[in-house]
Amino acid sequence: MDKKTVKKPLRRKPITTSPRPRTLPPLPLKSEALFVGIDLGTCRASIAASNGVREVVPTYVGYPKDNISEELFGAEPLFGELALKHRLSVELIRPLAHGVIQGDGASGNNKNLVAAQQLVRHLLQRARPKSNGPIYGVIGTPARASIASKRILIDAARGILDAVMIVSEPFAVAYGLDILDRALVVDIGAGTVDLCRLHGTLPEEQDQITLDEAGDFVDKKLSNLIRKKYPRAQFNVNMVRTLKEQHGFVSDNADRVTAHFPVEGRPKDFDVTGELQTACRSIVPGIVNSIARLIATYDPEFQEAIRSNVILAGGGSQMIGLATLIDQGMEELGGGRVTRVEEPVFAGANGALKMAQRMPGHFWQILA
Ligand SMILES: Nc1ncnc2c1ncn2[C@@H]1O[C@H](COP(=O)(O)OP(=O)(O)OP(=O)(O)O)[C@@H](O)[C@H]1O
Ligand SMILES: [Mg+2]
Repeated sequence: MDKKTVKKPLRRKPITTSPRPRTLPPLPLKSEALFVGIDLGTCRASIAASNGVREVVPTYVGYPKDNISEELFGAEPLFGELALKHRLSVELIRPLAHGVIQGDGASGNNKNLVAAQQLVRHLLQRARPKSNGPIYGVIGTPARASIASKRILIDAARGILDAVMIVSEPFAVAYGLDILDRALVVDIGAGTVDLCRLHGTLPEEQDQITLDEAGDFVDKKLSNLIRKKYPRAQFNVNMVRTLKEQHGFVSDNADRVTAHFPVEGRPKDFDVTGELQTACRSIVPGIVNSIARLIATYDPEFQEAIRSNVILAGGGSQMIGLATLIDQGMEELGGGRVTRVEEPVFAGANGALKMAQRMPGHFWQILA
């Protein structure tokens, strides 16, 4: 073979940017391992495991407040729906905000870190009732999560997983769909909207944008609008979120939406159609601008291809009419094609699981 045609083996960059220990402990045996993909979201945590189990719980942990609530629920924390249901009897913790665990790192006093760890452990128990083999887990984070927040996540995984890999959430979604080239994924969560353009390699910093105005922002906005219009209506943000999840829309035409809220204890009906539309639409300009930025700063030869393959994921992508509205917003950019993933709830965890099953040993951070 001609000398010039000899190809050097490709050196792949590690997918994780997490720091690696200097001396690696031995890799746990993969043949006996359970692989899991974890989407530890601000609003909802989901897991997809190689044994076929898939679980999702709202990201809430509740601790009994006093000995009466301990008598009712036991001393163990409550998770997800159960914690929410009994929120008046427990100290309710939502450990993540804007996609990252809140608080001062690995300190034992960090209630959020402890709650996040307990929640992940709970998810794993649901995913893996038996077997003592090692667990390899890939965890998704916001596209541009800081090194510090990735470090906190690794700390959270210690003692729960045997090996961990931290990946950008929208990249995990793309990996799960086998779309790794000429596409743009927009993951609309509660704490963040994460955008990532795919071009056949691992995404770098300039390929990703994280916006802080996402589902939680819509909930706050909707609460404010309803409070302004109906000052006597009694409601909290959970009730407003439920309303949005049942009827959220951004399209021009929609059926009237009526909320049932008490006024001085008596249930009443309130028309919230306009408020719901305004609140849901409030995050769209930011998303369209970010799509425009990621397209405009890309190689001109491939801009057309990326523009024609914009994929929406995450719970917020379920707002009725969203793909069409983003499509319309992109008309000024020369048009585009926007679609939504089939499984917005599990797309991240599915992709993370696929990655966990395929990545060779040197990509992993072993947790001693
Ligand atoms: N049918 C729906 N219509 C509109 N919004 C919805 C719907 N279902 C869920 N959501 C919203 O989607 C958001 C949750 O999406 P998702 O579960 O992808 O977020 P997350 O992963 O927990 O958050 P993040 O990725 O920001 O950490 C919440 O704001 C929720 O209210
Ligand atoms: Mg998410």
